[in-house]
This record gives sequence, structure tokens and C-alpha cells, in this order.
Amino acid sequence: MQRFAGKAVLVTGAASGIGLATTKRLAGEGARVLACDANADLLRKEAQALAGQGLEVVPRVFDVRDSAACGEAVAEVVARFGKLDVLCNIAGVLMFKHFTELTDEEWTKVFAINVNGVFAMCRAAIPHLLETRGNIVNIASVAGMVGVPYNAPYSASKGAVLMLSKALAVEYASRGVRVNAVCPGSVLTPMTSGVTPPAHAELPLFARLSPLIDHAQPEEIAGAVAYLASDEARFVTGSGLVIDGGQTAI
Ligand SMILES: NC(=O)c1ccc[n+]([C@@H]2O[C@H](COP(=O)([O-])OP(=O)(O)OC[C@H]3O[C@@H](n4cnc5c(N)ncnc54)[C@H](O)[C@@H]3O)[C@@H](O)[C@H]2O)c1
Repeated sequence: MQRFAGKAVLVTGAASGIGLATTKRLAGEGARVLACDANADLLRKEAQALAGQGLEVVPRVFDVRDSAACGEAVAEVVARFGKLDVLCNIAGVLMFKHFTELTDEEWTKVFAINVNGVFAMCRAAIPHLLETRGNIVNIASVAGMVGVPYNAPYSASKGAVLMLSKALAVEYASRGVRVNAVCPGSVLTPMTSGVTPPAHAELPLFARLSPLIDHAQPEEIAGAVAYLASDEARFVTGSGLVIDGGQTAI
């Protein structure tokens, strides 16, 4: 499939996990991708590897907490590729802690990356997406749909991403810009490897948060992002596509 031939795409969180798999998938289907991440060494290494496979992937290092840098990245896509067709907001951070032990800085950091970063990217991208009748795919989480214990800032931030996506979908539907979210459950990536609940956590609380069919690979989430970002999803906007192995079905 070459659903993204001739398309210009910006992916955040592109150095690792779901963002890297999405970059590979979209570039593999013909997209020209500005691959963005704060981890300079990893991003350059992965982008070089993809370029070595003949994929059109250009790295850009910045922190999504810097709203001016978000705007400059969008401007680079337009300057380099002539337009922007698809924005994938995938950069994010996870935090497990007892709620009353959270510091102001920790709460603010999770929101600054997971929510403010998505806001700044969408705000910069939408004027260009209006020109191409393009679309946005944001990575929320099932943690934004059901409460996850010891994970309050993350859960709250992902709920915000889901509702931001729906609000933008409504606001821009008549002008041809689609906005969707993906809500993954447990995906095997560096974010989740080695994550453990905090000391003295009530472990039975996690029992109902387990997927019914193993864990997902990042490529399986990337496939869903590619569908939503493609013209096959012309009638899909404002959705929160749940990919969680049945976790939230029970
Ligand atoms: N892995 C899961 O089980 C899972 C489940 C649901 C949702 N998600 C969401 O999917 C997205 C990707 O997660 P992942 O599992 O691939 O994690 P990951 O840690 O493998 O990748 C996240 C990437 O985001 C980048 N990043 C972090 N902070 C940044 C910042 N301030 N500016 C720019 N880049 C930054 C990191 O450098 C990293 O490359 C996240 O938004 C995460 O919350 C993950």
C-alpha cells in the first residue's frame, strides 16, 4: 500500500516505540516525514537507519514543551515539503506515583508534555491542514477513559488529549480537517518496560486493567494511526479508537 505517496507528515515522539513505528509505517507507505523528538541521539540514529532503507525521513530535535519550537517544526515541514497533510502527536511521558506524593513540578511536567505539547502542535498545524484538508491523529490512552491508580496526572492528561481531539474534530469538520485519537492499552515499548507500581500499591486494583489478549506491539498501533491518517478514514473524525486487547470491555 502507498496510501501516503506525495503526503507530508509530521510525527512527534518519533525516536522510540509507537512514534518510531508510525514513522516507519507512514514513510514505508510513501510519506515524506519530519520525525521529531527531544532525544537527539536516538532520533538521529533511527532517522539515519530509516533513510538508509530509502525512506524519506528527516529528523528534527525539539521539546514539545517549547511552543515556539512546535511552530518552527510545522514551518519546516511546509518549507521543506511544500505543505502539511498529517500531524501525529505521539510524544508523551508516563508517571506512576501515589497521588499525595506528587510534586507541583511532576504534575506540571506531565501536562506540559502530554497536553500543552499537543495543543501547541495542533495550533501551529491547523492553518496548514485547512489548506490540504489534512488530518491529525493524537495518541491518548485507555488511561484517559478509565481511572488508572497511582497514575493520576497521566490519566488526567490523556483524558484531556481525547477531549481536545473531539473538540477540534467538531470545530473543523465542516472545513475538511479530521481529528482523531487512538487509545492504546498496554503496548510493549521502552515507556512500559520495567514500569512497576509504587511501593505499598494496592495490587488488586490493577487486575481489571489487564488486557484479555496479551500486549500490543507498537507496529499494531502504528497500523491504526495509518488507517486514521489515510483517506480510507474519510468518514472518521472525533473518534477515540480503542486498541486495548479487551481491557476496557469488561
Ligand atoms: N506504551 C504504552 O503502553 C502506551 C499506552 C497508551 C498510550 N501510550 C502513549 O503513546 C505515546 C508513545 O509512547 P511509547 O510507549 O511509544 O513511549 P516511548 O517512551 O517509547 O516513546 C515516547 C517518545 O516521546 C519522546 N518525548 C518524551 N517527552 C518529549 C518531549 N518533551 N518532547 C519531545 N519528545 C518527547 C521520547 O523521547 C520518546 O522518544 C505516548 O503518548 C504514550 O503516552 C503508550
